[in-house]
Amino acid sequence: MKTKNRPRPFFRMEGGHSLCGTVKVQGSKNAALPVLAATLLMEDTCRILNCPNISDIECMKILLQEVGCLVKSCGHTCEVNATTVSETWFPKREMKKMRSSIILLGAMLARKKEAQVYYPGGCLLGERPIDLHLAALEKLGAKIVQEKDMLCASCKELKGCEIKFPFPSVGATQNVLLAAVTAVGETTIVHAAKEPEICVLCEFLKKAGADIEGYGTDVISIRGVKTLHGTSFQIPSDRIVAGTYLFGALGTGGHIVLENAPIEHMEKTLETIRQMGGTITCDEAKKTIELLSDRRPCNLERLETASYPGFPTDLQSSLLTTACVSEGKLVLKDTIFGQRFRIVEELERMGARISLQDGGCTIEGVKELAGRNVIARELRGGAALVEAGLIAEGITTVFDIGFVERGYEDIVRDYRSLGAKIEKGC
Ligand code: UD1
Repeated sequence: MKTKNRPRPFFRMEGGHSLCGTVKVQGSKNAALPVLAATLLMEDTCRILNCPNISDIECMKILLQEVGCLVKSCGHTCEVNATTVSETWFPKREMKKMRSSIILLGAMLARKKEAQVYYPGGCLLGERPIDLHLAALEKLGAKIVQEKDMLCASCKELKGCEIKFPFPSVGATQNVLLAAVTAVGETTIVHAAKEPEICVLCEFLKKAGADIEGYGTDVISIRGVKTLHGTSFQIPSDRIVAGTYLFGALGTGGHIVLENAPIEHMEKTLETIRQMGGTITCDEAKKTIELLSDRRPCNLERLETASYPGFPTDLQSSLLTTACVSEGKLVLKDTIFGQRFRIVEELERMGARISLQDGGCTIEGVKELAGRNVIARELRGGAALVEAGLIAEGITTVFDIGFVERGYEDIVRDYRSLGAKIEKGC
């Protein structure tokens, strides 16, 4: 295959300027994906509002269409009618594009009593097994046979039971929820994930007629119901996108306002930004977060990512980037994805002082970074490289931006509305 003349889209920016302005936060990717997967359970139309226009959502729509769902999109609204589901096989190409495709396994098993999926792809954050998903679905009554990287699952019926996870997993909790809402009897999930995206999925399912209690705590109880009905549902704003822009403004020294901000889901992020020297003002009624960063941020001595309500692993790269130009030292550990440090090499080339350790790194803040050509290797790390480019003196070009576009609707538009000198090219 010829690759020589293939366009290689990039983001190019002139850094070293403060971010100032207002930006509206897009709908949440990680909330919208499982809600869209859940529409498979209903022989009816569901109307999902505030879906972000990003490639991961496009991928989920294709997966739903491939099995026979009617999918209509207009702006940020997506209508899915799953009455016409005829297939139970999901195509490999789309399955491999994102990790969350695996939750279609639980949904399809519930709907058709069989499903054929592939080992999912997604961001390379080190090893990302799906053993918890498979063991839980087997406990609910599924027989799962693996043929190379294809998984063929079937069941006579799914039967409620106790699923005790050894530790919380967002995706595995979602898979069990999708399989159990229409199963026979009661399912209890012990050590369930407590992330806001779990609560969003449960609220959507409840609106469609499911009987679920305890979400937001580590024990969720689901009493199976016979059928679910179509409904409309609003996806909340993206707490990770909001956090990305806040760390960008903290790092560049700026004054920004986020509109449509998911304040209630950002407590630890906002606390961390305050501790680093940012002045945060939240207006719950207007749903705005204002950040004023009028001096060089200071590094906290230690920080560990953790499950919700701890500091989110998805903002670790953004925090790490701001820490590179903050005063003092930070020992940063990622307890969820210990190998999520692929941007370190690129940041070092921009002048950052970082030493990697097992599952983490130590950052010694420097006064400034220098613009370079860098390569995105995963979604959140890619967004953090854009942030680094806005902080750095001179010109930075970020390549392989398809990773960033998996989760950010239009990062150029958003940063421009904050006054950044940034463009997309190819
Ligand atoms: C979801 C999010 C991702 C976020 C992560 C943690 C989506 C689409 N993705 O990913 O953005 O970074 O939660 O908040 O919502 N694990 C196993 N076996 C399993 C499943 C998970 O060992 O079967 C491990 C993982 O390797 C990881 C930890 O459990 O170390 C937590 O992962 P999990 O919560 O499952 O993350 P995802 O659902 O993949």
